Amino acid sequence: MPHRVEHIFRIVQDAIAAAEAERSEENDRDFIRPVDWPVQCTVGPGLEGAIACETKIGYVNGRRGRLVYRGFDVFDLCLHSTFEEVSYLLLHGVLPTQAEFEAFNSKLKEYRHLPHTLRLIMGFPLEQMNPMAALRMGTNLMRQYQTQRDLEDLPAKGRVISSDDDSIASSDAVGATKAVFEFADRNVNRPAPAKAESDLQEAHGIESCYHLIAGMGTLAAAIYRLRIGRLPIEPDPDLSHAANLLYMLTGRRPTPVEEHIMDIALILHADHGMNASTFAAMVVASTLSDFYFSIGAGVAALNGPLHGGANEAVLHTLEEIGSPDNVETWYARARQEKRKVMGFGHRVYKVYDPRARILGPLADYLVAESPDGQVQELFATAKRLETCVIEDLGASKGIFPNVDFYSGIVYRCMGIPAELFTPIFAVARVAGWSARVLEYMKHNRIFRPRAAYVGGFDREYIPVSER
Ligand code: CMC
Repeated sequence: MPHRVEHIFRIVQDAIAAAEAERSEENDRDFIRPVDWPVQCTVGPGLEGAIACETKIGYVNGRRGRLVYRGFDVFDLCLHSTFEEVSYLLLHGVLPTQAEFEAFNSKLKEYRHLPHTLRLIMGFPLEQMNPMAALRMGTNLMRQYQTQRDLEDLPAKGRVISSDDDSIASSDAVGATKAVFEFADRNVNRPAPAKAESDLQEAHGIESCYHLIAGMGTLAAAIYRLRIGRLPIEPDPDLSHAANLLYMLTGRRPTPVEEHIMDIALILHADHGMNASTFAAMVVASTLSDFYFSIGAGVAALNGPLHGGANEAVLHTLEEIGSPDNVETWYARARQEKRKVMGFGHRVYKVYDPRARILGPLADYLVAESPDGQVQELFATAKRLETCVIEDLGASKGIFPNVDFYSGIVYRCMGIPAELFTPIFAVARVAGWSARVLEYMKHNRIFRPRAAYVGGFDREYIPVSER
């Protein structure tokens, strides 16, 4: 279990009390009923308002600023739970008993070790790659190890490339042909499996989820270290998921405060409705492609600055503004240029994002404790920008800080470089991606919406020589 630090607990408790005091009474009764297919709903561009499936995993109440995982308010989970327990909850739908938790936790600890995946990944010039590209690739490479298929039928001695070869010897392709990227049950035409078999398939799927949830942290940390010319650090089984992540990144065992804050950040990012990366993961899964490819799709979608990439973009914005005194001038120009301000606005929340309600005060605490003058300047700039944006767009457009606005400052105070902010988002969100893919696969139907065709018809083909 991660260390719980009393004064961090109090900060979170006060932040929750303040958020609840301001919570609107207006309830959001939408999207909480079973669906009678085919469903009637008003759909905006970007599938706004569309209902894609039913779920029991989580709910975002955009009018009240409430985030629910499996019926539990995320505020309560931040106060009392841990990332490991929340992952179990998202996957299994219930809080674990002590014995279930211990079994789950030891599985996670076992799966933090990725020797074969890391061996594969070290063959790439990671320092020349975007860390999210490496992370996406790493999740696919994890499949090779998990299936064990890259360990079977190794090429005969003498046929592998040795270090003193000056040409590429012919060696059988091992991973490419042997790693099978597919769900266990790919045969769509066979009769529905018997209960025992479908239970086994589900167990196989859950095992992949455990592997991915445990492995994402190891991958993110190893990619970072290899990019800076250091070797990956072995996971420490005595540490919680949050503490071990920080340890594998820095080589230093974190303080209880750092561990507790990272744990809360992971809980807050673990799931969030049908966001773009979750949907991307589910779309790939719905073709019966593969668990690992699905999670890789989630990583790819998360990378964008309109989604998880915003946390890194926020820091660059604050650096660009430079000082609190420049905020008003910068903001006026940004508005004139119709720029979106990173870390603000949300498709669902039209009120203050509950996750930012907690991360803001945690950033405040960390900044006050930090000897780094630069971080204090960044935070002061952020506070002034928040006031400016809310005054202008809060009431009129429902634009408020989102989860990404303060997370970067929190990570920065813990010595984490900006290039890792989005990978850390993935380390948490893999829990939600996995749970939702697993849930959807039980009643899978391939995602296949339509586009309205607004092009022409009956055009005459003219050969290139006559154009
Ligand atoms: N700054 C200024 N104006 C904004 C912003 C912003 N950050 N976000 C939305 N608006 C305005 C937008 O210009 C539009 O105005 P108008 O009605 O005059 O055209 C209106 O609000 C609606 O915006 P939208 O772009 O149609 O909203 P959306 O639901 O399509 O986009 C969003 C949601 C999160 C992509 C968008 O708010 C945005 O780009 N925010 C900045 C990037 C960001 O912080 N992303 C992280 C989102 S939260 C975590 C996550 O999901 O990863």
